[in-house]
Amino acid sequence: MEDLLFPPGFVWGSATAAIQIEGAASEEGKGPSIWDVFCRRHPERIHDGGTPEVACDHYHRWAEDVRWMSHFGHTGYRMSISWPRVLPEGAGTPNEAGLAFYDRLFDALLAQGIAPNVTLYHWDLPAALQSWENPATVEAYLEFAELCFRRYGDRVKLWATLNEPAWTTMQGYFTGVHPPNRKDPRAAIQVAHNFLTAHTRAVELYHEIWGRPRSGEGIGIALNVSHVYPATDSPEDVSAARLADGILNRWFFEPVLAGRYPEDVSALYRRCGLAPVGEVDFARDTVDWLGVNYYFPHHASADAPSTDYHLNISGEKQEASRFAIEGLFRFVQNPRGRYSDWNWEIDPKGLYELLLRVREYRDLPVYVTENGIGLQDRLEDGEVDDPQRIAYVSEHLQAVHRALQQGVDVRGYYMWSLMDNFSWVNGYKKRYGFLHVDRETLERTPKRSAAWFSDLARSGILQVGE
Ligand code: BG6
Repeated sequence: MEDLLFPPGFVWGSATAAIQIEGAASEEGKGPSIWDVFCRRHPERIHDGGTPEVACDHYHRWAEDVRWMSHFGHTGYRMSISWPRVLPEGAGTPNEAGLAFYDRLFDALLAQGIAPNVTLYHWDLPAALQSWENPATVEAYLEFAELCFRRYGDRVKLWATLNEPAWTTMQGYFTGVHPPNRKDPRAAIQVAHNFLTAHTRAVELYHEIWGRPRSGEGIGIALNVSHVYPATDSPEDVSAARLADGILNRWFFEPVLAGRYPEDVSALYRRCGLAPVGEVDFARDTVDWLGVNYYFPHHASADAPSTDYHLNISGEKQEASRFAIEGLFRFVQNPRGRYSDWNWEIDPKGLYELLLRVREYRDLPVYVTENGIGLQDRLEDGEVDDPQRIAYVSEHLQAVHRALQQGVDVRGYYMWSLMDNFSWVNGYKKRYGFLHVDRETLERTPKRSAAWFSDLARSGILQVGE
């Protein structure tokens, strides 16, 4: 048995997003988001027709949820603010009841010594705004950001502008699997640019209002970065992997960390006549910290005869996920890989590579803002035994520890997720939580992994091996 010691002050917590847990979708003045509308209109596109209408009812059960976090030894909690709850029309008159909900939540968290790490935008765009293609959405987002910074900035010391702009751009505007269900590469590239513009301006705005933060605090962004390995050593696959990395990772990484777009991908978009419109100087102000969301890596092949995509939303292993862009790259399965039921590869090394890579751009505080595994957990005799989750989190924390030893400034880890929640198009079958949530009664039951994590959070020691 080996003991891996994490640094004092390392943040131990879990993560959620407003629409995935809150429910109360149209209570006390909340406006609809594009997800509320999509789920109502297209139940056939969500596993078992799930909706975020009730979710985990966190809007009413928040006090119990904070008690659980405290019980699990959390020192941090990553969450998001529902934009349509505080600005039902996306801009204009704020909804005081919605604002007051987050006042109560932040006060309760702080009273338990749990530092909130708050994401402004976690995909629940107010339906009134329709799409990020529209430049007016960027202006409305800044109004929302300013409202939150001024109202909560005295208590919230860690902010993230956006959650996973790459994933939401891809699924919302290229594959069309997520709302607003567009399938248009030009729209996708423009939306990515609008996200990055909104991000840069929000960073500036935060610093204007609250000044320069202490180390480890301030404003950042949560990027999903899936390490891309070439499927084989062939030069074609190596360059396909580089390109896939450019489109999905570097296009977001480099404006955020290096203040510019990657030249190879910019040149590609220009050649195709798809360069985004609108000037922005990404270098004018930059993040205080970076959040990385990591679940799985990709393996890219150059053999991509057609554009093709499919997401496994059933949790049946035979339903393969696919993603290919004609003539550029296709993602393939790793023949030696371990996979979850939703065909997400389990590869902790990818997290280690990613953390080292961040430092190549900039040596700044990093938080693992999401990492976890979706399982088909079952409540039996009042207990949920989830050894696969314990193994997954342990292996990934070992990767974090190795990165720390290499000098990467990792400040904390937020497990996805505090509780089983609305897993987007996967509905409710895919369970990620420390807390099992009964779909009938909404009763919370801590899983074995929660007890394991509590010991870890309290001791700061990860025990590895037999
Ligand atoms: C991230 C998101 O992409 O992964 C979370 O930030 C999400 O909101 C998590 O739930 C797991 O993805 P999924 O689709 O399996 O729920």
